[in-house]
Amino acid sequence: MALSLAISGLDAGYGAVKALRGVSLHVEAGETVALLGTNGNGKSTLMKCVAGLVRPQRGSMSLTIDGVAHDLTKLSTEAIVDLGVAMVPEGRRLFPKLTVLENLMLGAFRAAARREIERNLAVAFETFPVLKERKSQLAGTMSGGQQQMLAIARALMSSPRLLLVDEPSVGLSPLLVSQTITKIGELNQNLGLTVLMAEQNFNQAVRIASRGYIIVHGEIVVAANSVDELKGNDIVKRLYLGGIV
Ligand SMILES: Nc1ncnc2c1ncn2[C@@H]1O[C@H](COP(=O)(O)OP(=O)(O)OP(=O)(O)O)[C@@H](O)[C@H]1O
Ligand SMILES: [Mg+2]
Repeated sequence: MALSLAISGLDAGYGAVKALRGVSLHVEAGETVALLGTNGNGKSTLMKCVAGLVRPQRGSMSLTIDGVAHDLTKLSTEAIVDLGVAMVPEGRRLFPKLTVLENLMLGAFRAAARREIERNLAVAFETFPVLKERKSQLAGTMSGGQQQMLAIARALMSSPRLLLVDEPSVGLSPLLVSQTITKIGELNQNLGLTVLMAEQNFNQAVRIASRGYIIVHGEIVVAANSVDELKGNDIVKRLYLGGIV
C-alpha cells in the first residue's frame, strides 16, 4: 500500500496563540522524517493537526493512499485512525492504573482494529518482548523506557501505516533514548511503517531519519532532503551542533 502525507500552508493555533504559520511538509511512503525543534515551537501542534486533534485555521493536509487523496482537514480523529494513522503522544498518555495488556487493547478500539487484535498483539509482543513478560503489570509501575515502548506498542494495535511519534526521548536516560530511537527505526525497516517523528534530540533523530525539517516559532525554517544537508545547514549548526545561538 502506497501512502503519503502532504501538508501545505498550514496555520493553526489556540485562540490568540499562533502555533503554526504557513507550514508545508511532506512524507513519502516508507520514509522516516524528523520534525526538529526546541520547546514550544509547534511540533506537537503539527502532529495533532495530522491526527485530527487540532483543527487548522488555514492550509491543506492530504493523505494519499493507493492514489486516492483524503482531505485530513475534514475528517474526524476516528476516521483518520481508520485510514491508518496512529499517534504516539508526547508524554506517553498511558492509563497507569490499567495493565499493560489493557493499555494495548485501548489502542484497538476501532472496529477495523478489533478484527486484527491477535495479529497486532503478536507484532507488538514480538517487537517489545518485555511487554509480553509484563502484560499483567500496571502500566504506571513500569520504567520510563518500558512505558515509552508500551505507548508505541499501543499505537501499533490500530494497524497503522503512518506513525506519528511525538518526542519519544522525553524524560528518558541517554541509553534508553538511544534504544527507543533504534526501535522506531526498526518499525520502519521491519514493518514498513512510514514515520513522522517530532524530536528535540537532533543527533538521535537523524540516526534513523532520512531527512528532516526544522520548525522555529511555528515556521519551517529548514527543509532538508538528506541528513547530510541538514547537518550542513547554518541554522542547524547554530541551533543544535554547538554553534552560538
Ligand atoms: N492547548 C493549548 N492552549 C494554548 N496554547 C497552546 C496549547 N498547546 C500549545 N500551545 C502553545 O502553542 C505553541 C506551540 O506548542 P507545541 O506544544 O506545539 O510546541 P512543541 O514544539 O511541541 O513544544 P515541546 O517541545 O515543549 O513539546 C506554544 O507557544 C504553546 O504554548
Ligand atoms: Mg511537544
